[in-house]
Amino acid sequence: MRKTKYGKFSKDGREFILEKPLLERPWMNVLSNGRWCYVASHLGGGYSFVGNPTVGRVTRWHVDGVPRDTVGKFIYLRDEKSGDWWCANGYPPTRELDSWKCHIGLGYNRISSRHKGIAAEITYFTPMPDAKKSTGSDVGDACELWLVKLTNTGKRRRTVTATNYAELALGNWFEDTSWREFYLLFNRQEQKRGVIYTRSTQWVKYLGGWQAVNSDANNIPFDLAVFMASSAGVTGFEGDRHEFVGPYRSLDDPQVMDSGKLRNSVAVGRDACLALQHKFSLKPGESAEYVVILGGVDKDAADARELTRRYGTVRKAKAAFRNNQAYWEKVVSTPRIKTPDRDLDMMINYWFKYQGSNLSWWNRNTGYCYSGIYNFGVRDACQDAVSRLPQDPAWVREHIVKRIMIWQFEGGDYAHGGNFLSMLGTRTFHSDDPLNPLFIMANYVHETGDYSILDEVTPYAHTNGKSTTSIYRHLVEGIDFFWSQFSKRGLPLILKADWNDALDQMGNGRKGESVMLAGWAIICIEMFYDCMRHKCDYGRLARYQKKIEKLRKRVNRLCWDGSWYWRATHDSGWVLGSRKNKRGGMIFTNPNAFAIVAGLADKPRTRKILASFDKYLDTEFGSYCFYPPFPEPDSRAGIISRFAPGTKENGSLQGHNSRWRIWAELTAGRGDKGYDLIKRMLPCALHQKCPDTYRIEPYVACQFTYAPESDRPGEGSHAWATGTACWTLLNVWEHMFGVRPVAEGLLIDPCLPSKWTRAKMSREYRGATYEIEIRKPRGLEKGNVRLIVDGEELPGNVIEAHGDGKAHSVCVFVSK
Ligand code: GLC
Repeated sequence: MRKTKYGKFSKDGREFILEKPLLERPWMNVLSNGRWCYVASHLGGGYSFVGNPTVGRVTRWHVDGVPRDTVGKFIYLRDEKSGDWWCANGYPPTRELDSWKCHIGLGYNRISSRHKGIAAEITYFTPMPDAKKSTGSDVGDACELWLVKLTNTGKRRRTVTATNYAELALGNWFEDTSWREFYLLFNRQEQKRGVIYTRSTQWVKYLGGWQAVNSDANNIPFDLAVFMASSAGVTGFEGDRHEFVGPYRSLDDPQVMDSGKLRNSVAVGRDACLALQHKFSLKPGESAEYVVILGGVDKDAADARELTRRYGTVRKAKAAFRNNQAYWEKVVSTPRIKTPDRDLDMMINYWFKYQGSNLSWWNRNTGYCYSGIYNFGVRDACQDAVSRLPQDPAWVREHIVKRIMIWQFEGGDYAHGGNFLSMLGTRTFHSDDPLNPLFIMANYVHETGDYSILDEVTPYAHTNGKSTTSIYRHLVEGIDFFWSQFSKRGLPLILKADWNDALDQMGNGRKGESVMLAGWAIICIEMFYDCMRHKCDYGRLARYQKKIEKLRKRVNRLCWDGSWYWRATHDSGWVLGSRKNKRGGMIFTNPNAFAIVAGLADKPRTRKILASFDKYLDTEFGSYCFYPPFPEPDSRAGIISRFAPGTKENGSLQGHNSRWRIWAELTAGRGDKGYDLIKRMLPCALHQKCPDTYRIEPYVACQFTYAPESDRPGEGSHAWATGTACWTLLNVWEHMFGVRPVAEGLLIDPCLPSKWTRAKMSREYRGATYEIEIRKPRGLEKGNVRLIVDGEELPGNVIEAHGDGKAHSVCVFVSK
């Protein structure tokens, strides 16, 4: 964990200590308790929302938030004698303070700065549900806390004011962005006992704006009164953003800092902000501490007393912070790995689990790239949730029952995205949608052995809860829907698109086919067989097995291109992912990776695919999604070809599907290759190698890295908003370590880098802890496994669950 010019990871790997505020673009952390979410930049920039990032918006994020934070939760300090002022956050970073650091941690950001003899420390975090008791859907209170400490480090007494600032955009962020001057007219503020409350009398609750079908869209208030309170005595306040900032000024240099005086006035029908000021007189060495609460209460609540009672003193806020840390400790507690590679251990043990948990709450709305345009993406939800399985299966159970299964339409297809406020889903007919719920379900059942979830009854989408069926039925209806969407020659139709949303013009005529989908379907349906067996649904099982055998043969007969499989076909019969596509889209990762994982490809074909991967997909910064990128738009392929070459879905080095390549590499026994690819694309490694090329957050995965065909190869993009973190966890847990829950127990089948001789994993499984140590000779990647559990040799390589609450030692010997 080398230091770069920007900073370094802490020794224990749980913090990135950033030492330079001036970055190419903000580095974000997602501070959330499942209800309230502050997408926070390293400077205290970023935005907050409650429940839903698009329509539950609380604070503003300007569309030009990149490359610089244009707005945030800032604390301005002013020496009232000299009139000198600065921002304790180090904002703007072009104006240097004497010293500045930001500790980016699991669940918090702590900015500490020193300037002109005043040290300031601000810790931003959200209060979490009780770390000891919480499970399932428990979420925290609707607020964030800023714990502040100011210290006079000089030799004379100082009189300093601290002005806490946040800028509001209540309700629908789209409307705020597109028509602010209209929507500000609905803001009403009041100040009571030093707390400022802001309400909005209008809430465009649905996407699509006030012109939308819903006739009440113009006629409902935002359901929260958003407030700012502080434990310190309030000596001034302001609610009108314009008065705070001033004409032709900005938060770099707000007009209120000229005099240091706030108007003590609220805003009605104006662009609202929340600003509270405190005055401190500090002796040399003396500190003042206070806590700011930025939160929301029911719009009709008389005040915010309940929340201020709970968190409104420094002592209580510190207790809330300890609970926050205990909460995250629990989330990252299992599995834990120990390998010769500390970077890998750090990302797998802490950061990817942390990213996965935040993703499973907020989907792709973490980070700033989507800034809340996303609904709840059902596909992504099915994949992200696996990161929580070993640690909190109860959480995943609720997720499946309450948030995933409710999006199936009568007919078997699923909403591609859903909105929990309107309960409206988008019906797009993405062809992979009916398969993804099988993936999370099979993983859940293998983790827990709890088949009772299949009997839970959940509603169909858009039926007002009136039409329902059991989850088992939902899932098989999904599979039957999948089988019903096949081409004449027996390949799955791609429909709107498959996993790759950007391959969106291949099959609108309902003829185009997806080869990738064939592989994914085999993987998901076969994983689901255990559920069918449990239900004694043998007739169906046999039918599906037959269909799958036919599908395997057909793909092998029709879609093999000589050295790899095709990607898809267009309605017109045009083939993508073949040698003929030399100018764009010749070889794709996913149909081939899935062909290996699903056992579609035999050994010789597997060897050919892997050799082709090596030849065409490897680059210094990671693995291509496909090669080569489309140089020009091709209207048959769709939006995929309209992105600039080498970016996003157009042949970038894409995180998510590179992990499927790694899955295939490890399945095929190439431990060195799998590890090398993981390493090459590990965000901390990319940062350490070339921070000014990679540019973005080193502690979370990003969606893609710019490919050699782009103008900035190696630059990362769309940090946070990706399934990469969760798939890397699966790569490492289930395929490198090979510790994989199956119906019968915990299967162990490692595939490690040849150099390693030892690796350890500690893992909870069905109510017991397994301390697993793998030993193998140098030079071997995969081999025969001997298992010694609690001193006794087991036949085979599956450990049946002990379920006794105890720790069990597992020695795994791998030999040729
Ligand atoms: C993004 C989407 C995901 C999709 C992928 C490829 O990651 O969130 O759903 O599968 O892009 O288009």
